[in-house]
Amino acid sequence: MATNGANPLRDTADRRLPRIAGPSGLVIFGVTGDLSRKKLMPAVYDLANRGLLPPGFSLIGFARRDWEDEDFAQVVHDAVKEHARTPFREEVWQQLSQGMRFVQGTFDDDSAFETLKSTIEDLDKSQGTGGNFAFYLSVPPKFFPKVVQQLKQHGLAEQKEGSWRRAVIEKPFGHDLKSAKELNAVVHEVFPPHEVFRIDHYLGKETVQNILALRFANTLFEPIWNRSYVDHVQITMAEDIGIGGRAGYYDGIGAARDVIQNHLLQLMALTAMEEPASFDADALVAEKTKVLGAVRLPKDLAADTVRAQYAAGWQGGEKAVGYLQEDGIDPKSKTDTYAAIKLEIENRRWAGVPFYLRTGKRLGRRVTEIAVVFQRAPHSPFDHTATEELGQNALVIRVQPDEGVTLRFGSKVPGTSMEVRDVSMDFQYGESFTESSPEAYERLILDVLLGDANLFPRTEEVELSWQILDPIEEFWEKHGRPAQYESGTWGPAEADEMLARDGRSWRRP
Ligand code: BG6
Repeated sequence: MATNGANPLRDTADRRLPRIAGPSGLVIFGVTGDLSRKKLMPAVYDLANRGLLPPGFSLIGFARRDWEDEDFAQVVHDAVKEHARTPFREEVWQQLSQGMRFVQGTFDDDSAFETLKSTIEDLDKSQGTGGNFAFYLSVPPKFFPKVVQQLKQHGLAEQKEGSWRRAVIEKPFGHDLKSAKELNAVVHEVFPPHEVFRIDHYLGKETVQNILALRFANTLFEPIWNRSYVDHVQITMAEDIGIGGRAGYYDGIGAARDVIQNHLLQLMALTAMEEPASFDADALVAEKTKVLGAVRLPKDLAADTVRAQYAAGWQGGEKAVGYLQEDGIDPKSKTDTYAAIKLEIENRRWAGVPFYLRTGKRLGRRVTEIAVVFQRAPHSPFDHTATEELGQNALVIRVQPDEGVTLRFGSKVPGTSMEVRDVSMDFQYGESFTESSPEAYERLILDVLLGDANLFPRTEEVELSWQILDPIEEFWEKHGRPAQYESGTWGPAEADEMLARDGRSWRRP
């Protein structure tokens, strides 16, 4: 019998040790896109630089461009130089570039998939990749069915004894519940569920993984993490950028589908879930799906949801155009660039505690945080004037960019007979740890190669998240136009009014 509380049935791997991927390779579809250049290629290099990839690791790019292997390697080289987190080391690069190949073709080009097959076979021989390949679909979802069908047809998705083939899919996982189900069906027809890795890059962020450590490795917070002490929770993902060159992707999708359906609901699930039986994927999914399944939408969607579009304004000292004036945007577009919703979780822990989720582009500044705001003291022995300036206690998980945790509470102002004001206690990653945080994509790509599914949302979670969002999107679709907010501000007045009706206000991080 375990005496130290350890579960003897759990795997005994020491999670402090670096995990190194076994023989393997990665095929990227959509390799000429922004994500690939800015995140995927640099993450592969950073992993190699940290010694976490096998010596023969191979990277195959698949795209329409008329490139040779050397051209592709040059593109990766430039992307790495520009965006990698760790310093450029010639010897690491030399070794990595040995395994780089480019396959030219379109998704309906059978011969290109045959070339891909023979390229993989060659790499198995020359680089020792052992037949283990992950196919990363960094392409719009409308191409998923074609690509996975082609992989199947050309025998590329076959799971052979002693090796693996995996599919990695980028969001959006559908447009609504119906399309998500169709998409899941198409992918699962070709790849078994445990070989499908859906990327929600927020789950790869250190600060997001730390939610579990903060809650379940400590005794301090859990006893008060419930309706008896928590007044409400605010989850904010604010961006200062506009839609940039992504009009084609963004218009018609909007803020809620782009980030609430995935990132924000995942943050909410991690904040609200019960302690999992272990830290493995099944146990985590079980708890997250319970939370998502218990979400209740507001009765009055007009009052408790807000969507809006940025209008012209000033951002970082520069003039910014409104959403409808952005290149490639339909001037009559109703797409939301800001969304705020109020949700409740119907279970014993959270009944009656609102979770306010908001996100927006072109807001005051870039910040993502989870603020657990506590109730006021039930009774105060101080005069009213002594606590006039005192806010509510709050625990703020600062996801980015200033990573850390803040605890806000009241303290006596020195020299006064009695006046209590808010102060904060801060934990900053940079001050407490010498190790810098890996990029989310480093962690997630490594997990894919290792077959570790903990940080990847499963079908059930994706579908439950759409189930939450669909009625809101349908309501918005039927009712009027989005509100407006000036670029560089904290969003529309309607969102402030939404909280004011509940006697609360948004934090100004
Ligand atoms: C992506 C969204 O998932 O997340 C983008 O599609 C958004 O619209 C991005 O800009 C933000 O990611 P991060 O890691 O910079 O917060």
